[in-house]
Amino acid sequence: MQPPTINIFEKAAKKAGKLLIRDFGEVENLQIHSKSIGDFVTNADLKVEKNLLETLKYYYPNYTYISEEFGELKGDENKIVIDPIDGTSNFIHGIPHVSIVIAKITNDEVTDGIIYNPILNEFFWSSKGKGSWCNDRRLRVSNRSLLSECLIGTGLPFGKRIYKNYLSEIDEILKATAGIRRLGSAGLDLAYVAGGKLDGFWEKDINLWDISAGVLLVKEAGGKVSKINGDKWSIETREILASNSKIHLELEEKLSLL
Ligand code: IPD
Ligand code: CA
Ligand code: CA
Repeated sequence: MQPPTINIFEKAAKKAGKLLIRDFGEVENLQIHSKSIGDFVTNADLKVEKNLLETLKYYYPNYTYISEEFGELKGDENKIVIDPIDGTSNFIHGIPHVSIVIAKITNDEVTDGIIYNPILNEFFWSSKGKGSWCNDRRLRVSNRSLLSECLIGTGLPFGKRIYKNYLSEIDEILKATAGIRRLGSAGLDLAYVAGGKLDGFWEKDINLWDISAGVLLVKEAGGKVSKINGDKWSIETREILASNSKIHLELEEKLSLL
């Protein structure tokens, strides 16, 4: 049974998801602004975010809200972190790999999270101690321990986010695994690690709203989350390495070789 927080997140995400679906594939009617090279915001992002905030604030009027487009609204120690459309570039291009991401953080710990792809009607959720789920199916990370059989997700940097050595990281992982996927929604990528479709995922220079729900999903599905070098992940950490846990150390080593 879903905990009450997840029920409320589901209500908010499914309502706002209808707005997202309405604008999906309507690229000629979208107003698109570029925040920097490769980093876009559309009127749909803003509409979805406003709608999410309206529903969530009705139930949790005193919480602190951190959302990608509106920024921070200070409240009490409970934080709700929102990415209204994770995968905006996919959204603009009509690629149905997009999600609404909501997470609750209390005492610096992610306690509840949802990642919802309204186009495919896949509702991923997790609550601390309650496991990870996609709709009514329990999720488990994959069982693969041979890196050569593993498929690894990543987020390639672009524009200002390009960093030194990113090509060497890709080179190391490509040589050792069955391949890399750059799917374009870090939230869904992590949900896919939780569900065993991907065996691991890494990305640098990433924001809390992209990964907070996914961190909990991976952990509650039996996986491991850390910084790229294996150190403990915290909500201040702006990078992530997530895996089925069996290949974690090897990924750490490959990505730290540089
Ligand atoms: C982006 C996506 C992408 C990741 C970027 C994020 P946005 O979020 O999650 O997969 O590589 O780092 O910024 O801009 O589509 O919400
Ligand atoms: Ca995002
Ligand atoms: Ca976004």
